[in-house]
Amino acid sequence: MKPLCAQRGAPWPLLASLAAATCLGALACQSPPSFSRLAIEDAALGPGLQHGFLLGTATAAHQIEGNNENDWTDWENGTWEDGNPRIARGERSGLATDSYRRFDEDLAAMKLLRANSYRFSVEWSRLEPEEGEWRDDVAAHYLSWATRLRAAGIEPMVTLHHFTLPRWVAARGGWANEETIGHFERFARRVGEALGAQVDLWCTLNEPNVQVIRGYLDGLWPPGVRDSQLAALAYAHLMRAHGRASRALRSSDLTDADGDGAATRIGLAHHVRIFQPATASSLDLAIADLTDDFFNEALPRAMATGRIQLSVPGQVAMDEPAPELEGATDYLGLNYYTRDFVRADLGSPTFSNLYVPRGRPTSDLGWDLYPEGLYLLLTRFAGFGWPLYVTENGIADAAGEARHHYLRAHVYAVQRATEAGVDVRGYFHWSLLDNFEWLDGFEPRFGLFTVDRSEGGSLRRSPTPAVESFRDIAARLPR
Ligand code: GCO
Repeated sequence: MKPLCAQRGAPWPLLASLAAATCLGALACQSPPSFSRLAIEDAALGPGLQHGFLLGTATAAHQIEGNNENDWTDWENGTWEDGNPRIARGERSGLATDSYRRFDEDLAAMKLLRANSYRFSVEWSRLEPEEGEWRDDVAAHYLSWATRLRAAGIEPMVTLHHFTLPRWVAARGGWANEETIGHFERFARRVGEALGAQVDLWCTLNEPNVQVIRGYLDGLWPPGVRDSQLAALAYAHLMRAHGRASRALRSSDLTDADGDGAATRIGLAHHVRIFQPATASSLDLAIADLTDDFFNEALPRAMATGRIQLSVPGQVAMDEPAPELEGATDYLGLNYYTRDFVRADLGSPTFSNLYVPRGRPTSDLGWDLYPEGLYLLLTRFAGFGWPLYVTENGIADAAGEARHHYLRAHVYAVQRATEAGVDVRGYFHWSLLDNFEWLDGFEPRFGLFTVDRSEGGSLRRSPTPAVESFRDIAARLPR
């Protein structure tokens, strides 16, 4: 499973791993590749990707739809303990990009890109605003999106859960409550029934690791808890929910919409990062490895083995069977953006300081730009044996000057991985449009299309220069 570095992933506890492991840290066992700017700009991007490759964009309901009423809406309306607003500049998602009503405009943008796929999420709180109250009109609305996408030659990938919960689910404890798994399974079944005629490609969950860390460890997202036991419990529930939702989709979506012989292809979107030890000291290497294990490895390991193993020294030790996960996964989606440098700090609850060294090129959000990381992670996660999709990758770039190269560099990484024998079936750029970036509000601009948010602004979508770069790659995909 870890083809690049056979001995990585040394087990807890810390001291044992320090003593026993001979090969620690994400990059300790190989010389990392280095992509030159020239090679990236000169490469013929597209022809080296797989036949049938999906090249598209990704969005999430709460970040674009507008007027959603869920646990995040409530979070946006609250304040921190010191009275300051939770969202930067006191912003709220509000109308967002009004995409629930402006699908025509979004579809036109996708066509301009020549995209052949689109990853979007359905909003649970719209479809089931109260327990058992199923909104057929909302389901029909999403079905019309999938139908129109397919008619335009754009394969829909539908995410069932992208961070937000209906208020009634959140009020009962959200993902810390085991009952949520059953509610989610029932929701998945209904979505499968409603959209299955047009949708084959399903993504059950978006970034369970991020949701758990933010919601239950650092408490920056709803429900704002800081409790490692609850975090582990919520994480395990999310993992089981993937299995149960997958089973629900397989029993409710029986239509092979794209004619490839399978009615469903089911996976999830896993956020992965490079954790680069700050120095060659054994302690930095060990802590980078431990961080990597919890963040990158624990989820796919559980999906592959049917055992949930989570461990944080002195805090969490979970090792339990999860039979729901057997046969649940057809592909693994990787959301990749950046690399963190890891300095050991045994006084901190995470044992580490994560940072980006001064002078490194970064996005507007200060994220390190490291396309080689995508190549490393694709070649590594291929070891699990599932086909891979890059379910998210993108850059906050308000000036619109860095996105062209970022996009090319990361598609170059995908192409290089493909040439190295990795089964990568698609790349979804985050994002189609500038949108609501959670705690950071609307300032970070991730869109291939920028959205006019000026005072009384029209929310008009305008192409950034990278639209041309995307079209160019799309035009050269193998046919
Ligand atoms: C996440 C999400 C997206 C973000 C994107 C940029 O990673 O948090 O899946 O909702 O908007 O990743 O940060």
